[in-house]
Amino acid sequence: MEYETLCLPADGQSLRMAADLFRQGELVAFPTETVYGLGANALNEAAVRRIFDAKNRPADNPLIVHVARAEQLDELCEVNGNAKKLMAAYWPGPLTLLLPRKSAVPDVVTAGLASVGVRMPSHPVAHEMLKICGLPIAAPSANRSTRPSPTTAQHVMEDMKGRIPLILDGGACDVGVESTVLDLTHETPVVLRPGAVTPAMIAKVCGSVSVADSVMRPLKEGETAPSPGMRHKHYAPMGKMTILRGDEQRVIEAVKKAYDASENACILAMTQHTAAYGDRRVMDMGANDAEIAHNIFALLRQADALHIDRLFAEGVNSTDVGLAVMNRMARAAAFDIIEE
Ligand code: TXA
Ligand code: MG
Repeated sequence: MEYETLCLPADGQSLRMAADLFRQGELVAFPTETVYGLGANALNEAAVRRIFDAKNRPADNPLIVHVARAEQLDELCEVNGNAKKLMAAYWPGPLTLLLPRKSAVPDVVTAGLASVGVRMPSHPVAHEMLKICGLPIAAPSANRSTRPSPTTAQHVMEDMKGRIPLILDGGACDVGVESTVLDLTHETPVVLRPGAVTPAMIAKVCGSVSVADSVMRPLKEGETAPSPGMRHKHYAPMGKMTILRGDEQRVIEAVKKAYDASENACILAMTQHTAAYGDRRVMDMGANDAEIAHNIFALLRQADALHIDRLFAEGVNSTDVGLAVMNRMARAAAFDIIEE
């Protein structure tokens, strides 16, 4: 079915329209503090299937269920002690908890897994929308599969025009990278996807945490991913991307050399380094990890819009939010990382 996709400022009227669409089993894209989501009623199997169709998403990649109130979890999953502590500390916010699922959750949501991912977003539009419709909403990022996640309503329009009836426009997303995905089905919490809620923040609340080693390396042939989404090609710009990291001055010299030896290239540089590249084509990633997280997906989309063939990006330190940034950048570069 072909839709005439409406993109409306999020106000009382468009939020009520979104709630009606959810009740009818339709899809709505909406802003969260991380990235835009593409939502459907999580308890309606046919509606959830439409998400996979609209995104061209492989059916083995499970979805996160979004709620406005903690009581909504009662019918979805078993809430354990770590979950309670983390919810008190970081919800609403960019933290997804994987918990043992209950039978009300259709298989299509969890790709048949025994756990379900749940999250309470803090974005006021997402919160109002979830409150008004009163339903748990299954929502992946609102990009077409393999493209960078959308951080503005315009990005969603690029990918979803004609495929969905409504996009709620709430401006640019604050965080810019997707939520932390944390597996709480073991004694020690395991970070499967890093985000703005960092391992240190989780350890502070739970006493311990581990980070899945697949976070910073490609999967081996035949290896099963703890989080299926990490297996699929992700965030890729159309041009080939290489990350250079290490000593600041050596990185800048190596980036210049690589750029000068390439055609139709661009450099992704930290704000404080942009001047060092002279009149080469430079995109300003931001001055710190949080700014880079905020900008990175939009820059990858911009490189596509300019039909860039070759991207050279300065790496960042893989600590705190930097871990989330490098996790996304490494995948965008298909793990082509050079240490200087
Ligand atoms: O910030 C976010 O999390 C955004 C906004 C819209 O909330 N959503 C998002 O969803 O990024 P998505 O579907 O693009 O990414 C969800 C990730 C995937 O890597 C998926 O494999 C993993 O979470 N995931 C979800 N449920 C899981 C489960 N039960 N077990 C393991 N991994 C799971
Ligand atoms: Mg996604």
